[in-house]
Amino acid sequence: MGRGKRIDPRPELPLFASSGKHELVAEHVTQTFLDENGSEVWALDDFSLTVSGSEIVGIIGPSGCGKSTFLRLVVGLDEPLSGALSFDGETINGPSVARSMVFQNANLFEWLTVEENIAFGLHATHTYDKGKYKIPRLIEMMGLGGFERAYPPQISGGMASRCALARSFVLNPSLICFDEPLSALDAFTRAALQDEILAMQTIAHTSMILVTHDIEEAVYLCDRVVVMTPRPGRTKGELTIDLPHPRDRVSPEFVNRRRQLLAMLDDSESVSV
Ligand SMILES: Nc1ncnc2c1ncn2[C@@H]1O[C@H](COP(=O)(O)OP(=O)(O)OP(=O)(O)O)[C@@H](O)[C@H]1O
Ligand SMILES: [Mg+2]
Repeated sequence: MGRGKRIDPRPELPLFASSGKHELVAEHVTQTFLDENGSEVWALDDFSLTVSGSEIVGIIGPSGCGKSTFLRLVVGLDEPLSGALSFDGETINGPSVARSMVFQNANLFEWLTVEENIAFGLHATHTYDKGKYKIPRLIEMMGLGGFERAYPPQISGGMASRCALARSFVLNPSLICFDEPLSALDAFTRAALQDEILAMQTIAHTSMILVTHDIEEAVYLCDRVVVMTPRPGRTKGELTIDLPHPRDRVSPEFVNRRRQLLAMLDDSESVSV
């Protein structure tokens, strides 16, 4: 079923070529760090998660429970202490264009224009000539028209987030990890960008993992939400959000899912709904 409102304006040139048949498998992942005093910080404990096809899976949990730690393992920025992570059957042992990440602060390159930021991945992978047709289309789809040559300090926070989204899609990733990508935005911009994420996902069939502190955002976007325990992060419970899109944020079904997630976060016992 289509989730978003927009369609690709020129489908004859593939903006995205994702088959939608992806699988992330994380099994029994444990991660520790040393703090500034040399003491061990146990961030993740026996955490397992599978994300398949064009699923959007949310992860919520208390601050410090290991959500960002997990995303860094998925995109190959770190290695786990124990456990295994694979994507499409191959062990994850470093970064790949198939798995991209969008951070809380848009993390744009300030010395590059909007257009150049979006094109960055194409240059980095020496595929600019082949893929440059995507740039104006991503700019159009993300509503950044007229700001192509602006530098990050000259655009709003919402525009910066749109630019970061476009940048994350340009290499046609199979999986995107979102680490609270919209948390710095006002409610209005945030709601608009949630719809953009759904629209892009409808076209690209990308698997998505969304870390968020916003329960409403999780219910609005996700097919499934995993609730984590306080550190060390383990799976506390999981809720399937089987509501059709577009979702009505004030419908009794929507409000009920929010209530269920809040109860799962509050309850000290393990919960599965
Ligand atoms: N590179 C690091 N060195 C030392 N400790 C780290 C490192 N990265 C994370 N930690 C610690 O691991 C724990 C989990 O951190 P993480 O950033 O994954 O939490 P989080 O769930 O994303 O929290 P938040 O919701 O606040 O973003 C925290 O106690 C953090 O201090
Ligand atoms: Mg975090």
